[in-house]
Amino acid sequence: MAHSTERIPSPVPSPVPSPVHTPAGDDVSKRLLDSAAVLSYDPAVEIDWDAPLPPGHYGLNPEWSTLYGTALWAEMTEEQRVTLTRHEVGSIMTTGIWFEMILQQMVLRDQYLKDPAGAEFRFALTEIADECRHSIMFARACEKMGVPRYRPHRVVAHAGRAYKSLARGELAYGGILVAEEVLDVMQRDWMRGENVLDIVRGTSRIHVVEESRHMKFARQEIRERLRGAGALRRRNAAFGIAAGAYVIVTSMVHPSVYRAAGLDVGRALAEVRASGHRRAMMRTSSRHLMAFLAENGLLTDAAARIYRRVHML
Ligand SMILES: [Fe+2]
Ligand SMILES: [Fe+2]
Repeated sequence: MAHSTERIPSPVPSPVPSPVHTPAGDDVSKRLLDSAAVLSYDPAVEIDWDAPLPPGHYGLNPEWSTLYGTALWAEMTEEQRVTLTRHEVGSIMTTGIWFEMILQQMVLRDQYLKDPAGAEFRFALTEIADECRHSIMFARACEKMGVPRYRPHRVVAHAGRAYKSLARGELAYGGILVAEEVLDVMQRDWMRGENVLDIVRGTSRIHVVEESRHMKFARQEIRERLRGAGALRRRNAAFGIAAGAYVIVTSMVHPSVYRAAGLDVGRALAEVRASGHRRAMMRTSSRHLMAFLAENGLLTDAAARIYRRVHML
């Protein structure tokens, strides 16, 4: 007969201990998990998907339109402006879905075999669940607005495939942070925009709340991964993140949105490229990101040249 006091063998320790985990990082993840438990949304019930779209309401605040402030904008009818802004926001949402697919795979791969009892693991999976709901929410919003599927350029789509398969650590979380930061500033305006469609205001509000946690997590992960990193690794990460930013920012609004609004695509693109207002908006949306990159030694000369080309700096 077995003794009832016989010791149960303790579980085998994880063969793959996380080399970068710190108590500070664990604290951040724990706080983010608490916040997610208190304030998370289900877009399926939060948004009134059946409400008709008021014909005069914009897709995004006009000042966030790529053509705002140009000669072409002044020539456009009000109806063309409404159509353009709906296609612009739809294109940004579709790019958002594309990027959320990339980041879900990167985060999942990064967490492979990590301690399931750890707060970092649990928050990472919470983030993936958030992104899953976000992508479905953006898909529904595009369908509701009658916006077609704006796919990234073929070369860019392949580059995304490579990035999501190869990027890890600070490069993966850097790419994630770039996309989240740029979208965050725009969406803070969209969620309060006057005469902006309710589905855009609602989806933006949900995204801003949940993404603010993702950004804190990404910043913490980047700091942890770079702890003790040498100059070469930091320079490589800086360049890789900037290259990712270039692709994200130049893919956000598909050129076909101008055709959808009955405009000449060539002229529209030329006016967007020359627009001082557009450059100022891009710089505004990148301010926080640039400050964080500078603090962490990720704003090297080579990276700064790339950010300047797309007017993020
Ligand atoms: Fe998201
Ligand atoms: Fe996110």
